[in-house]
Amino acid sequence: MANIFFIILFLHSLLFTSIAEQTFDVRQHLSTVTRYEVSKDIKENAFDSSKIPDQCSPIHLNLVARHGTRAPTKKRMRDLEILSVQLKSLLQNAKEKGASLEKLPSWLWGWSSPWNGKRKGGELIIHGEDEMYHLGIRIRERFQELFSDDYHPDVYQIRATQIPRASASAVAFGMGMFSGKGKLGAGNHRAFAVLSESRASDIVLRFHDCCQNYKVYRKQQEPAVYKQKEPVLDEITRSLAARYELNFTIKDTSTLWFLCKQEASLLDITDQACGLFSNDELSLLEWTDDLEMFKLKGYGNSLNYRMGVPLLEDVILSMETAIKAKEEGHAPGSYEKARLRFAHAETLVPFSCLIGLFLDGSEFDQIQREEALETPPKPPQKRTWRGSTVAPFAGNNALVLYSCPENDTSKYFVQVLHNEQPIPMAGCGGTDFCPLQVFKEKIAAAHLKHSYDNLCNVCTEKGPGTKSYASQLFEMLSWILSGKNKDKVKASPKVEL
Ligand SMILES: *[C@@H]1O[C@H](CO)[C@@H](O)[C@H](O)[C@H]1NC(C)=O
Ligand SMILES: *[C@@H]1O[C@H](CO)[C@@H](O)[C@H](O)[C@H]1NC(C)=O
Repeated sequence: MANIFFIILFLHSLLFTSIAEQTFDVRQHLSTVTRYEVSKDIKENAFDSSKIPDQCSPIHLNLVARHGTRAPTKKRMRDLEILSVQLKSLLQNAKEKGASLEKLPSWLWGWSSPWNGKRKGGELIIHGEDEMYHLGIRIRERFQELFSDDYHPDVYQIRATQIPRASASAVAFGMGMFSGKGKLGAGNHRAFAVLSESRASDIVLRFHDCCQNYKVYRKQQEPAVYKQKEPVLDEITRSLAARYELNFTIKDTSTLWFLCKQEASLLDITDQACGLFSNDELSLLEWTDDLEMFKLKGYGNSLNYRMGVPLLEDVILSMETAIKAKEEGHAPGSYEKARLRFAHAETLVPFSCLIGLFLDGSEFDQIQREEALETPPKPPQKRTWRGSTVAPFAGNNALVLYSCPENDTSKYFVQVLHNEQPIPMAGCGGTDFCPLQVFKEKIAAAHLKHSYDNLCNVCTEKGPGTKSYASQLFEMLSWILSGKNKDKVKASPKVEL
């Protein structure tokens, strides 16, 4: 009897470990370097979404998307070239010392960076175009009633930052969304407009760039973040050195981790740089990235996301405007149905925090009380805060505004889709389908009482007009939220976003 029990236990553990090993796919552990379609396979936080009542129909969609998969930047490409020199000298040393070399993976010999000699970096690559293009097609198919109008730049507003990978993402998305709607080429494409604010004053999509206080915080915080990562990097460096009998430095370890992410995500190579690390080590390296994202872009400090108030204001304002058009019975084609924004992890992550995603109820209350959250726990403990799901390449939040004319408690609801999946809002009792008033009062209001100018000590080098723009938006929103908007919105000067 006891024997059978042990055999079962043994089989169970055998089965269990082999499943765990099989299911560890490093491509799902690359933090913000994770590809979109890989991120969609991570089913960790399965959630029962709301059944949207038949009487409700979508009337407006706000999209905030990060650019698609991109090439490494010039600076990081240089790091890889330095790594190849360093590897050469490590191997040479080991050889001279007569170390046993059979443990070394063969790719290390004569390795040179795949980006060697490339002079420019940071651009959207073909994979990234594909992600954005298909995202555009899927959103159109899913919300047919929203995307059935003829294209007009005021009906479907497409905005991108001035950074080329973001504007190229907007173009790839639009090519998908409006394919078959025009007469250009075999795909019957339509030309469409992508608008960008100057980089120096884009406080809606690049608020981090103009926020002096944030820049100061970031500079101060970076060494502290490194200190938190260091013990992990140090330990992994020692394990690597022992395993391969090469004198790796901490710098080598972090560049090898960077190489692993690029190889796995951009080149589908998972058995070279990634293969140097064990799964546990990869999970820890992933955590160091996620920790940094938490501290410098996420819930680690309220300014990280509060400085995104102009974006949150812009989103709510566009919803209010859509409601107004609906209630005044404007003709189709005369009002905006979607506002589609293409930006960066520095935009998407704070925006997700502003609407309270990836929190449980008590954490949400802490945030509202301005208390700092615990840092994400180290593996093997589980955490919801993962770059691979929060902000992979092409990661996005869609806020879909629904009109539910027969509901007595609320005529309008907001559903949040994160990477196209309904996601619970802790600020709305854990539902993904939130009465608009609750969304505004419970989630947005605590942030919107702050103004960008006051939070940020806005940069001085930028041109005139921006400061008054931020204040205008803030004032306009205050009118709307206080319900005294009817004439003033019309009377206020048209703001250029
Ligand atoms: C690595 O460094 C240690 C001490 O710095 C040295 O004793 C050892 O020989 C080196 N090993 C190799 C393979 O270079
Ligand atoms: C109205 O919405 C609420 C959710 O806030 C829901 O519980 C209720 O069943 C809805 N009522 C109708 C008539 O659809």
